[in-house]
Amino acid sequence: MKLTDAQMQFVEDLLNKMTLEEKVGQLNQDSPSIVGGFDVPFEELIEMLTDGRISQEEFGKIMATAERDFHEDDIRAGMVGAVMGNDPVKANELQKIAVEETRLGIPLLMGFDVIHGLRSVFPIAIAEAGSFDDDLMERTAQMAAKESRAYGINWNFAPMLDVARDSRWGRVSEGPGEDPFLASRFARAKIKGLQTNNEATDSYVAACTKHYVAYSACEAGRDYNTTTMSTSQLYNVYLPTFKAAMEEGACSAMASFNDLNGVPCTVNSYTLRDILKGELGLKGFVVSDANGIRECVTHGIAEDDVDAGIQALNAGLDMDMGTRIFYNHIAQAVKDGKVSMETLDDAVRRILSVKVWLGLFENPYVPQDVIDAYSKALPAEHVALCEEAAEKSIVLLKNEDKLLPLDKSAKVTVVGELADRADEVVGAWSLAWEKDDCVSIKAGLEAAGVSFEYYPVCGPEGDLNADELKAAIESDSDIVIAVVGEYTSMSGEASSKADITLPGHQQEMLKKLVAAGKKVVSVLMNGRPLALGWEAEKLPAIIEGWHLGIQMGTAITKVLFGDVNPSGKLASTFSSVNGQEPLYYNHPNTGRPGSKSKFTSKYLDAPIEPCFPFGYGLSYTTFEYSDLKLSETKDDVVANFTLKNTGDVAGAEIAQLYMQDVTASLVRPVRELKAYERVQLNPGEEKQLTLSLRKCDMGFYNNAGKYVCEDGLYRIYVGGNSRDTLEAEIRVQFK
Ligand code: NOJ
Repeated sequence: MKLTDAQMQFVEDLLNKMTLEEKVGQLNQDSPSIVGGFDVPFEELIEMLTDGRISQEEFGKIMATAERDFHEDDIRAGMVGAVMGNDPVKANELQKIAVEETRLGIPLLMGFDVIHGLRSVFPIAIAEAGSFDDDLMERTAQMAAKESRAYGINWNFAPMLDVARDSRWGRVSEGPGEDPFLASRFARAKIKGLQTNNEATDSYVAACTKHYVAYSACEAGRDYNTTTMSTSQLYNVYLPTFKAAMEEGACSAMASFNDLNGVPCTVNSYTLRDILKGELGLKGFVVSDANGIRECVTHGIAEDDVDAGIQALNAGLDMDMGTRIFYNHIAQAVKDGKVSMETLDDAVRRILSVKVWLGLFENPYVPQDVIDAYSKALPAEHVALCEEAAEKSIVLLKNEDKLLPLDKSAKVTVVGELADRADEVVGAWSLAWEKDDCVSIKAGLEAAGVSFEYYPVCGPEGDLNADELKAAIESDSDIVIAVVGEYTSMSGEASSKADITLPGHQQEMLKKLVAAGKKVVSVLMNGRPLALGWEAEKLPAIIEGWHLGIQMGTAITKVLFGDVNPSGKLASTFSSVNGQEPLYYNHPNTGRPGSKSKFTSKYLDAPIEPCFPFGYGLSYTTFEYSDLKLSETKDDVVANFTLKNTGDVAGAEIAQLYMQDVTASLVRPVRELKAYERVQLNPGEEKQLTLSLRKCDMGFYNNAGKYVCEDGLYRIYVGGNSRDTLEAEIRVQFK
């Protein structure tokens, strides 16, 4: 976000004209109340949908029938800076009130959770990050921004940038995985995609990076739980994504619910003022998470709403999502000298700057032809991008004896309730999809002309239908495709789990099929890395399909039958059993790394190794890495190596470079991803590849929050995942 001098002057002139009340109004993200049978604020309703208390259908009914009170009189009085919603007609009505009926005509921010697409639902973020395709990540964000604007939304509560290492936490689905480097590349791509204007009609939005900060480090993976960590861990693991987003000019950030080392992030002046606005240079504003200010009373850090509001604003939080605490108490707090006018002005200036940058003063409305365009079938290029993203996000985890791809003439039986659930392909935080756009796996197979028998047998919840299982076992098929996993509501907000193995009776179903001698190809639909110890050992083929969005069925079918060669990799480590969590590849070295000897860092009853490591994913072809050579230029360490497609089909490989700082003043991770490249190779083709690592990126933050590069020995690893690599060493002197 960059403003011209004239735009900055416009903001100052406006600020000078504002009354105290009008200033406070800008800090209020108001929530429409749902009136009638359901008396809850809109955010609460969204949360009920997200955490599964109500279904998408119930949500749709409530939205269609219940009346919503948008507090138009408050907007008219200049007491509202932002609202939440995704209805372009309503958005235009509210903007009209703000622009034409308020004293100063300041347009509204219209915020909404567009996390992985709006009507065009793309794969959930943890899946899309596994494409390692920055260009794709940018294009899906661009399309999400364009659709958002068409729905009246100009401020997306995305990207979610929480680096997550504990798969018990339900929100791992919303973010780009466990690695700060990959997640930072994701962050850059998303900010560029969301915030760049590529069309004649405004098609960009203000991004809201979230959840700031360290929300994903919640103890025991339990959502909203406390977080405790060293300064170096905060800087090395949890801040890099936000730093990357700020460098790309992200317009806003959302303060997270958790406390960090005892101070809730909503009232944390160290993380908000010193780091985010100071060191990282956020030019826009910070909004609380829903109800976040009031929760500071429950945290026990503020005595009441007034105290919480004053603490939050003074700490650098600029906008209140949903509580009206700023609206009710900040004007008085300014009069009482508890908040300075300078602090208030700074918050208002930041919010107005985003509105100016968005062009809302010139173009506050969604043009009618744009609204009309989305009342029809989804445009073909949107469908195509959903399919491309889904295809590139699929990860082939196991393929014994080249069972896959299947022959089109194979006799196939499909089991698993999820195979026929078009409404379950979308994943957590999908709030505006349309059922007719969604392709279930069963529908994908049918559309491709595959003939098969289908028995639901069981899903992630409920009973196992013994008759259907018997029929599946007795069916005269060569292959059973078992679609198993989690419902959308089992990941996302408030969906932490202590048991991350396949839920319900699904594993029992798989065991019975295997025991009956069936060749089972398992297709997983899930929002979190599952503990797959049994499946990885006993099933001959496993496809990780995540929640791939509206084109899931088409993409999975193409991979099953070899029309698409899978190329996705895991953006997160998979455990074998629950108790291994949190498990991540880039852990610090111990003095006693786990081994066969007794007194080493391991479990008595579980492996120390992951089931599938970070960066892992197979292809229908094989790739060979060789001839790793390191060299040095003034600014870079350069790895040259050969990559060859040694199989008999074309395929794409994600070549990955990891680094280890062998000795340092702080214990460093055993490996850290530092570069990657997606490479397409024909059968037998080989390429000389070069992956460079800037020397200035070889350092780390110490416990004073200072970035240091230390001379010494570095190990460089190159390969197709974080485990199976070539390695070489180099001594680096930084000056
Ligand atoms: C709560 C969630 O934590 C956040 O991610 C979301 O953007 C807000 N609610 C608004 O829906």
